[in-house]
Amino acid sequence: MTPEPQTPTGTPDTAPGPPPGCPAHGTGPGGLHRLYGPDAPDLDDLYERLREKHGPVAPVLLHDDVPMWVVLGHAENLHMVRSPSQYTRDSRGWTPLLEGMVKPDHPLMPHIARQPICAHAEGDEHQRLRAAVTAAMGTIDHRGLRRSINSSTQELVNRFCGRGRADLVSQFAEHLPMAVMCEILGMPEEFDDRMVQAARDALKGTDTAIQSHTYVMEALQGLTARRRARPEDDVTSHLVTHPAGLSDDEVREHLRLLLFAAYETTANLLANALRMVLTEPGFRARLNGGQMTVPEAIEQSLWDEPPFSTVLGYYAKQDTELGGQRIRRGDGLLFAPAPGNLDPRVRPDPTAHMKGNRSHLAFGGGPHECPGQDIGRAIADIGVDALLTRLPDVRLECAEEDLRWRSSIASRHLVSLPVLFEPKPKQDVNRAPSMSSLHPHRLQEPVPQPRGWTEEEKPAPVAAPPAEPPVSAPAPEWSAPPPSRWQRMWRWLLGE
Ligand code: HEM
Repeated sequence: MTPEPQTPTGTPDTAPGPPPGCPAHGTGPGGLHRLYGPDAPDLDDLYERLREKHGPVAPVLLHDDVPMWVVLGHAENLHMVRSPSQYTRDSRGWTPLLEGMVKPDHPLMPHIARQPICAHAEGDEHQRLRAAVTAAMGTIDHRGLRRSINSSTQELVNRFCGRGRADLVSQFAEHLPMAVMCEILGMPEEFDDRMVQAARDALKGTDTAIQSHTYVMEALQGLTARRRARPEDDVTSHLVTHPAGLSDDEVREHLRLLLFAAYETTANLLANALRMVLTEPGFRARLNGGQMTVPEAIEQSLWDEPPFSTVLGYYAKQDTELGGQRIRRGDGLLFAPAPGNLDPRVRPDPTAHMKGNRSHLAFGGGPHECPGQDIGRAIADIGVDALLTRLPDVRLECAEEDLRWRSSIASRHLVSLPVLFEPKPKQDVNRAPSMSSLHPHRLQEPVPQPRGWTEEEKPAPVAAPPAEPPVSAPAPEWSAPPPSRWQRMWRWLLGE
């Protein structure tokens, strides 16, 4: 897709405004809109303006003014991801890459550079890698997964419940998915915090991103080698022993894919769902009144704020047409769940409640559809529900307008979600969440020890996360309201 003097659709840009190419005003060569820039554009607003002007597929510019199409229509997004004969996730045929427009230090290179993972593979190779991933994930025991999500939630809440205040992004949403994923993959519990810190660092591109990435990769390399030598019953071992015969590099890269894909998306989903519950009075009332379930609230959040706003990228294998635009072989396209979910053809009223309807684009579709969606949903459902059960009086500490977001082309994160509540006692991490009178002595009961690594096996630590201040004043006893239907369901699920 070579930018032309006017837009590639041939429609002159008649809107009054700055001259095309002005770097301060969000347009570049050909008058095309930049999805990045010094004044980071409000992408939601930009997508709606693009939809109005170009229809369901619009030409845009990525960093360094690399041309791209953004797919705004719901049907067009689905058509693209479900048509592997026309579109591929393998970037090697992308014209700007072949022509040298995308430099090796391009900020989006980590998403573009081909890696030996199913997310970048096609055809037989995709099937081989994906078969190993889905088979390994298929060995996860769902009941055990629920227990793990619950106990990790209890442990995280125990860290701050005595203080009466917390930031639910940095102290909860960013930790829970990593704790669960470390357990699923077979990494010892003591790695959770350091992994969160390293993954956060690596994904946010801070000064220490490369160091943090190296830390994660060394930890995963060590895990692969240990399971190759002595398999156990975890996802890593099943990846290593799968008949597809993954090499050590392939196993390690898939562990990274699983860890990062799960961490970033599920942390976002948890934070978004909690914000929705805390800021929209109707939600809380409907949850408490039993007219809405937590899974329905999660599904609504997947429509309104999909954890990946866009996925880079899909690449045209042949000349074709999409949403009225002529797509040339080698063109790149952004799969875009955020604007796709707001397509007026499927959602004439963008504020409408979708009532558990699951046809949003948050998990993609076609051969690359997210294989971890049930795990992501379970972490969010159980995490939100267990947190609300432990802290039923939780409320936002600041005005809703003071909440801040960090946006990139790929996602939009809440920076923090400060909350207040009456201080509560700790709870045994292996119990279902409970508001019943809790006895701190239960915490001293022995709990099963996680599978450990020996001192020599551990990779060098990255800087320790900030120490949690000790829980101060003794927490008051909490008198028990009658069990909610969620608690009853918990007891049923846990066989209590
Ligand atoms: C709420 C949480 C999650 C969301 C919103 C999400 C979303 C997505 C999306 C949009 C894709 C790309 C689909 C495409 O390329 O067309 C994807 C791929 C993938 N996701 Fe997830 N994901 C979530 C959680 C997880 C979890 C928990 C895991 C692992 C346990 C996971 C593992 C993967 C993998 C391995 C792929 C690549 C699949 C392939 O290319 O064949 N995801 N996910």
